[in-house]
Amino acid sequence: MNLAVIGTGYVGLVTGTCFAETGNNVTCVDIDVNKVERLRKGEITIFEPGLDVLFERNSKQGRLKFTTDLNEAVASAQIIFLALPTPPGEDGSADLSYIMGVAKQLSHLIKDYKIIIDKSTVPVGTAERVHAIIAENTSETLFDVVSNPEFLREGVAVDDFMKPDRVVIGTTSERARKVMKQLYEPFVRQGNPIYFMDERSAEMTKYAANSYLATRISFMNEIANLCEKVNANVDMVRMGMGSDSRIGKRFLFPGVGYGGSCFPKDVQALARTATDFDYDFRILNAVMGVNDQQRYTLAEKIKAYFGQDLRGHTIGIWGLAFKPNTDDIREAPALYIIESLLAAGAKVKAFDPEAMNNIQRYFGDQIELCKDQYEVLIDADALAIVTEWSLFRTPSFQVMKELMKQDVIFDGRNLYDLEAMAEHGFHYHSIGRESVGKKAMQYEKDI
Ligand code: UDX
Repeated sequence: MNLAVIGTGYVGLVTGTCFAETGNNVTCVDIDVNKVERLRKGEITIFEPGLDVLFERNSKQGRLKFTTDLNEAVASAQIIFLALPTPPGEDGSADLSYIMGVAKQLSHLIKDYKIIIDKSTVPVGTAERVHAIIAENTSETLFDVVSNPEFLREGVAVDDFMKPDRVVIGTTSERARKVMKQLYEPFVRQGNPIYFMDERSAEMTKYAANSYLATRISFMNEIANLCEKVNANVDMVRMGMGSDSRIGKRFLFPGVGYGGSCFPKDVQALARTATDFDYDFRILNAVMGVNDQQRYTLAEKIKAYFGQDLRGHTIGIWGLAFKPNTDDIREAPALYIIESLLAAGAKVKAFDPEAMNNIQRYFGDQIELCKDQYEVLIDADALAIVTEWSLFRTPSFQVMKELMKQDVIFDGRNLYDLEAMAEHGFHYHSIGRESVGKKAMQYEKDI
């Protein structure tokens, strides 16, 4: 099949590349001339494990092309994916100007039957709005608009795309349904379902899924905070809870709050939709409130330990990306933690295996970027672990102790065993577990 994917951001590039991999001819369109030039030269513009191999193979074999010419891409495609940004507007609602702008252009370009697919996360009712705009200049018999939300996690997006738990397709058109089934069949050979539903339910499904996952995280963060007060261990609680098959083990990890380009934006947008429809979605407001606080939890622990004024203190940071295996720092808890530490007068040194360039652009020379995780520790009064990169799971504790000025660790991801940390002689503070180490005990009594 011939596909056009409009927007070569994260979702567009993964979508286009993976559809090319199953034998479709895909033309990706973007208005950014430089980006298209780089992609044409074979240079991949995002970091996503496994994508480079597919990108190279399909580009070389001519199934994956890039252009700035929307007209040309649309003329040859029967299926047109919209993978455009929907940034939050000032009131929290998703800004649909990119999508509506492209829909307007499409309305002048459609000459034979096409399926226009909303891949971006868009509020309920968007498919209908896109339909209405295209219908201003095109006969309704010449197109269908389908909602087909993505459920890709950064870092494992290729796997999520190639072997999805489910595919959700919102369309009431029989003609579009047949084409979509054919397009997605190669991805669900192992028997996972394709759910067909109306457009509004498909749009709602995406927000409901992301908001529910964010709710689980905020819930566990509150359980962890309470565990600290009642002297319980959240890791034990998590395992005890998660082995109930009604609850499940995944997505129950407390930490430094959820970040990234999806959860914060989508929870906010769903709350906004609720308000627009005169519904007070109380749980979502609590989920956001808990997350806003949790993002500062490591910085607060550090200040509780050393005092509010951190001048003269050096804090090392391990991990800047919002999660491992990505260079993405959008809404990353590290940003909030570092800002809070800098505001308190601390000197901040940091290392991340992938996100250094992005963080450099964000903080400039306000923080010192180090070449590896050990350089961060030289003369550090404390280490704060923000992202759970595998690299940080089994460090040499001996070397760490030799390099650090004080043996203090604030672990936002519960990477280490409490007993082991006590044996190594660290003052070790984590999330939802007792602090270990001599001074830690004193500090616990004080707060
Ligand atoms: C998410 C959804 O998982 C995906 O389906 C959707 O399409 C886009 O949004 P992503 O943002 O890539 O994907 O990351 P995810 O792995 O879901 O993690 C989101 C955030 O939640 C991260 O900041 C992560 O650290 C945090 N998280 C996740 C926790 O704090 N605890 C957990 O148990 C799981």
